[in-house]
Amino acid sequence: MTDQIQIPTPSRRVVLATAGAGALALCLAGCSASGAPTTSSAPGQVTVPVADIPVGAGVIVDGYVVTQPAEGTFAAFGYLCTHQGLPVQQVTDAAIVCGHHGSTFSLADGSVITGPATRALTEATVTRTGDTLTIN
Ligand code: FES
Repeated sequence: MTDQIQIPTPSRRVVLATAGAGALALCLAGCSASGAPTTSSAPGQVTVPVADIPVGAGVIVDGYVVTQPAEGTFAAFGYLCTHQGLPVQQVTDAAIVCGHHGSTFSLADGSVITGPATRALTEATVTRTGDTLTIN
């Protein structure tokens, strides 16, 4: 006589939740929204190679939007949209874009170009040391 052991089959929801948690952990450990390489030297501080910031556009990296509106001029902002506090998703050659409800912000100063947001992105400090930008 053989005893049968029943192994419960995980529901689709459990499988999806587990896969999502794993993907999130991997992303938090090793990637940024833009894919730009960064190093963090202090909590809330991010360093980015100057070469990773395209002229006339920018990147989203570790909670910041870093832009270069004109060659050699850099700006940085917190990446949370001032409409509902969700992360902006894209930096184009025209604007910082929050696709949640369509707000766009200036590359130069983070001011609102189109709403529904009514306030500028929160400005961050950018310091250039050689070929590296430090943002905090
Ligand atoms: S959260 Fe960005 S437009 Fe609504």
